[in-house]
Amino acid sequence: MRIIVAENYEAMSRQAANILSSHVTMKPDCVLGLATGSTPIGTYQELIKRYEAGDLDFSQVKTVNLDEYVGLEPTHDQSYRYFMQTQLFDHINVKPENTNVPQGMAQDVEAECARYNAVIASMGGIDVQVLGMGHNGHIGFNEPAEIFEKETHKVELQDSTIEANARFFATRDEVPRYAITMGIQSIMQARQILVVVSGAGKADIVEKAFRGPVTPKVPASILQMHPDVILVGDKEALSKLL
Ligand code: GLP
Repeated sequence: MRIIVAENYEAMSRQAANILSSHVTMKPDCVLGLATGSTPIGTYQELIKRYEAGDLDFSQVKTVNLDEYVGLEPTHDQSYRYFMQTQLFDHINVKPENTNVPQGMAQDVEAECARYNAVIASMGGIDVQVLGMGHNGHIGFNEPAEIFEKETHKVELQDSTIEANARFFATRDEVPRYAITMGIQSIMQARQILVVVSGAGKADIVEKAFRGPVTPKVPASILQMHPDVILVGDKEALSKLL
């Protein structure tokens, strides 16, 4: 695993954007696995700047997102489709048909999971998967569990995750209780994984995930088994690793 220590959130975002930019530059039709959450927002802003400067072209890039809430319309301002549109897709020249986010309004969630697995398979593998990390070690919405779930599946969100995400909703009751998430195997099959972490609040879980035992109780700990992980974080988030 490579660890890149950044001075602060802005520097972390630029470092992460450097890595994604190199993929887009070296392989114009690359497959980017993308994540939501507050951590990658600065990274996406950097990518937009570089696109606007004429340094990046997303016209052949394909994207596949990790997860989506069950029951939110794509136009709901807390849906992950909406997040991706407003934080990135609407500002770059990626083709709408080349962007993939699980459909949270699907009538048949099982069928949607199967469709999403087929989408991932049809892309020929993810070149680089961006990951944030939940405070309980979740990646995507793979919550702490007894086993590592392999493929895309429906998950019941833990109270701590609902609590953490409640800040984005008017009331806690509005936070969806279920989500669709890419599974651990699909994430692990990405050729490269780029983990972004920021702030002192992530220091404990970063240490657990990367120095502790590999266990489905800390889903991110499986990343220790991946041959090409780049962990980019600010000093606060990485303080217990250094
Ligand atoms: C959500 C997302 C995750 C994300 C996590 C951390 O639960 N499903 O993909 O990594 O939040 O978010 P943040 O970056 O805001 O700490």
